[in-house]
Order: sequence, then structure tokens, then C-alpha cells
Amino acid sequence: MTKRVTAAVLLVALGVSACRPATTSGPAPATAPAPSTPSVAAGDARYSGTFSGGWRFPEAREAAFGASAMVASNSDHASQAGLEILRAGGNAMDAAVAVGFALAVTYPFAGNIGGGGFMVIRMADGRTAAIDYREIAPLAATRNMFVDEYGKLTDKSVVGHLASGVPGAVAGMDAALQRFGTMSLAQVMAPAIRLARDGFAVDSALFRSLSGAKQRLCRFEGCATFFPGGEALPPGARLVQPDLARSLRLIAERGPAAFYNGPVGDSLVAEMQRGGGIITKQDLQAYVPKWREPVVSTYRGYTLITMPPASSGGITMTQTFNMLETFAPLPAFGSAEYTHLLAETFRRAFIDRNAKLADADFVPVPRDELVSKTYARSLASQISRTQASKTPAFTAGRPEPEHTTHYSVVDGRGNAVATTTTINGGYGSAVWVRGGGFFMNNEMDDFAAQPGSPNMFGLVQGEANAVQPGKRMLSAMSPTIVLDPQGQVLLVVGAAGGPTIITAVTQVILNVIEHKMTLADAMRAPRMHHQSLPDQIRLESVGFDSLMVTALRGMGHDVVTTQGIANVNAVMRVTGGWHGVREPRGAGLAVGY
Ligand code: GLY
Repeated sequence: MTKRVTAAVLLVALGVSACRPATTSGPAPATAPAPSTPSVAAGDARYSGTFSGGWRFPEAREAAFGASAMVASNSDHASQAGLEILRAGGNAMDAAVAVGFALAVTYPFAGNIGGGGFMVIRMADGRTAAIDYREIAPLAATRNMFVDEYGKLTDKSVVGHLASGVPGAVAGMDAALQRFGTMSLAQVMAPAIRLARDGFAVDSALFRSLSGAKQRLCRFEGCATFFPGGEALPPGARLVQPDLARSLRLIAERGPAAFYNGPVGDSLVAEMQRGGGIITKQDLQAYVPKWREPVVSTYRGYTLITMPPASSGGITMTQTFNMLETFAPLPAFGSAEYTHLLAETFRRAFIDRNAKLADADFVPVPRDELVSKTYARSLASQISRTQASKTPAFTAGRPEPEHTTHYSVVDGRGNAVATTTTINGGYGSAVWVRGGGFFMNNEMDDFAAQPGSPNMFGLVQGEANAVQPGKRMLSAMSPTIVLDPQGQVLLVVGAAGGPTIITAVTQVILNVIEHKMTLADAMRAPRMHHQSLPDQIRLESVGFDSLMVTALRGMGHDVVTTQGIANVNAVMRVTGGWHGVREPRGAGLAVGY
């Protein structure tokens, strides 16, 4: 054992923690932040967490409270749209679909009708469901369509007309509404149509996001809408989107047929033809969302209901929780030992993810084996408590950009909907459908465009996720509903951020059910990430104690710091109602009543 490892072992043994309780709260507890605020959770004491000195999210950050219902999303207007529908008597599904369409108007960065998503549902009567409205590869797609004549990976899976899969958002939201909603499509789309037709005031978050994307967006026709006169719409300016309003109105009137076999789809196909894309009318007509059996697992008496393939999120999180359960109770939040265990369990779950997970309609996925406790025990038994293992190396990946968006909704009856939707990168492929008024996704990059080479998230994936016509590209989206040991909805959660979705959602859940944090603290707590390749732990900078970083390095981990990890929106049951927290690292609103 080297000197560095000896030092690490000592620090771990001493319980050195990067998340010490506030100096105002007294000495560090062994396993949980100090009890400094009143209990807020139903039948379950919860405590304020306090984190490493200098941590940028203040202790006073609070959750929104709703005695009856709650919506949390990345857009104020979209959350308000959900609230409007709830107040009008709609249930959580009605509100979720209203939020989804409103995000397409007010959060064009990731909200969409040109992309896809996943929804996990738990109704108050105990029914659970999951709908997969992921995009699919067009019928003319081929395995090597993104590789040039010299065998080199091009950027065509990221920018431009070839980057898009066939969108699923409109069909998926409609199918979910038909099965679990109580209102018509026209009713739940009314707020979104109003926002597109009458406009809304641009806020500083949208201004900053547009400004950062100007070069990409102005290669295509969306430039005129968002950069009139060549500059991003400034804060306070009104963004009116008449083409999008028309598309939404047509969908509200005629249903998904307006998109898949009507005028909105015609605009999409015309755009593809103008720019060398391959999505055809036949592709649109063939699109169907799929109801899937949710991945249901347990962690220390809690039940996790989450998303199966074509997302990797549910299986990868379940594998991680199953491995961690063998070490429970877990070490203190922020200790080197805890962060090491997270890294080692994520490493193993991501190795399986990258090699074995894909669209299960095309590739046999050993789902039952991967989520079994027996398999988790065998993986966990290979983990040393003091020494990092190594992932066999391919190529170093690139850092992940922010993208995607998640929203969580609960209603007064106890119905819960967790939805994550995306056009992949921010503003998708940057291609703007003229006449339709929306951005197209660049989801083709979520395939292993060249198996063995990293995608835009640095994920190195195998043959199982290679491009095939009609196939869904593997996702990391992880909409999840957690039930408490009594079987009541405790937490509705999900995230944006590529592979960091999986690790961030896991950590928020652990913060709530293992470290007993309030939701506000579970959300503001500093996050780590490990995705097997690149073989490194990413830590949010300043969030963790430098001694803890030294200890991790002593164990043999490569540790790098990063500004922010993932973008989560969550709702949690508390005594007398719900807490909602929008991502402290991003924009948005949690609102209830
Ligand atoms: N587009 C990111 C994901 O689906 O994971």
C-alpha cells in the first residue's frame, strides 16, 4: 500500500467529510447532517444539510409548499401552465401534458414538439405505467451514416438535418393524456397556444442561453425569430411565435395527425428535403409511442418506479441502488468513503449500460439479470472500500453540455407524473422547421454513431446501440417516482444532463432516503459524477472539502472539478402537502397550491 493510500484510509477511517455540518450546528455527525431545522417530512424526521465552506447555494434556499398539488419545471410559464390546469380541475397527467407543450414555447432550449421523451406515472389507485416516446432513426438511416469515407466520425449527428430522429413528443403526450388524463388535448394545450400566440417576456435566463447559442442557431432559420436584427431578444422583450402557435393550434384541433400526417409534418418534411435530411412522410406516419413495463425495485424499504429501455436510466440506477444497498447504512454524505462507493457502483453500472443496454425491441437486453439483487451482490463484492478500480480505457470523452429538461407534477388526489423530454443538445440540431416554428432534435448522436468512440457526452458505447432504421437511440433520461415504505408517493424526480442525469437523480434520492435531507438540501447538495469512461470522478467545484479530494486521489481516483452537474426538478411529500424545488443550478419554478 502506498503512502497516499495509507493517508486516504486514515482519512476515511476518521470520517473526514466534505459535507460537514455548519459550524453553527456543532460537531460532525457520523452519518447525517446535523438536526438543525424542524422535521418536515411525513412521519420521517428530516434535517437541514450544510455543506463545505464556500458552497454556492445558500442554506436559506427553500422549497415551495403546496397543500394540494405541485409542479416543478425549468420554466416559470410552463409551471404556471400546469398550475392553471390543476386549478381548473385537471389531474397530474392533464397538468403534465400542459407543462410539456408550454415548455415547447417558453423553453426552446429543450422543451419541444420536435423531440421526444419518457414519462413515468403512478396513479393514486396504485396503477403504474411508463411511456416511451423516444425518437426513432428514420427508415433511410444506416449504421455508418455519420462516418466519412476515411472512417472518421463527422459532426453530422450533432448539427444539421441528418442529426434528427423522428420526433415522438406529440404522439407520446397525446397517448399519455388519452390513457390517464381527464381533459381534452385542446384544453391542456390552451396555455401553450396562448403563450406562443400572445408572447411572453424574455427573461435573463433565456437571453443568456440564446446568446450562447447564436452562432449555431444563426446557421439556420430560427435566427430571425430569436435574433431579430441580429441580436438575441433582450430581457423584457416579448417573444411571439406565430408559426408555433399555428402548429400547436392544429395539433389541438386535429390531434397528433396534424403532426404525423398533416400540415405540421408537411413543414417538417419540407425542411428535411431543403437541408438534406432523411425524415419522410412515411417515417412520420410510422411513428408510435410505446407503453413499457416500468423498472420497479426496492432500496431499504422504499420502492423506485423508473424508466426501462429505450432509456438506460432505470436499469442503471437500479443496479447502482442494489449495489449500494449491500453497503448500507452508507457512510456520511460527502465523506471520501461515500463518494468512493458512489464512484465504484456507478462505474460498474455504466460499464453494463454502455455495453448491454439499447432499444430492447431490436437488441436482447438482459433486464432481469441486470436489476437482480443477486447480480448486484456479485458486482458489489468486487468493490474495495479503500482502493479505486479501473475501467478498461478507450478514448477520453468530452465534457457534457447541458440539455434536456425534466418536470415533476403531483395533484391533490395523489397522482404523480415524472417526465423528462429532450431535443438532445441545447436547441437540438439547431435546424428550425420553417412554417412549423420549432427546433428539431439531434438525438441521432445518442446512438453509438461509431461504436467505441465517445459521443457528445463522452459516453463510449458498444454495438448494441448502433444506428438501425426504426430503432430508438439509448437514452439516460430517468424520470422516477419513489414510494415510501407505506406505499405512498414520496418523491417525483428526474433531471437533464446526459449521463449525469442518472448519477444526479440517484444522489437526490439518496440524499432524501439515506441522508434524510430536506428536499431543498437534497437538491442544493454538491454532486459528483462517474460514468466509467472517462475514468474519473467529477465533483462540483467548491462543494467538497479539499481533504476529501486528497483522500479520493489517495485511493487511486482521478478527480476533476466542474461547475455544475445536471439539472433536477423534484417534488416531495411533506407533512400536510408537498414541497417542490426547481434546480438551484438553473432556471425555473416550483409552484403549488
Ligand atoms: N439526449 C440525452 C438522453 O436521452 O439521455
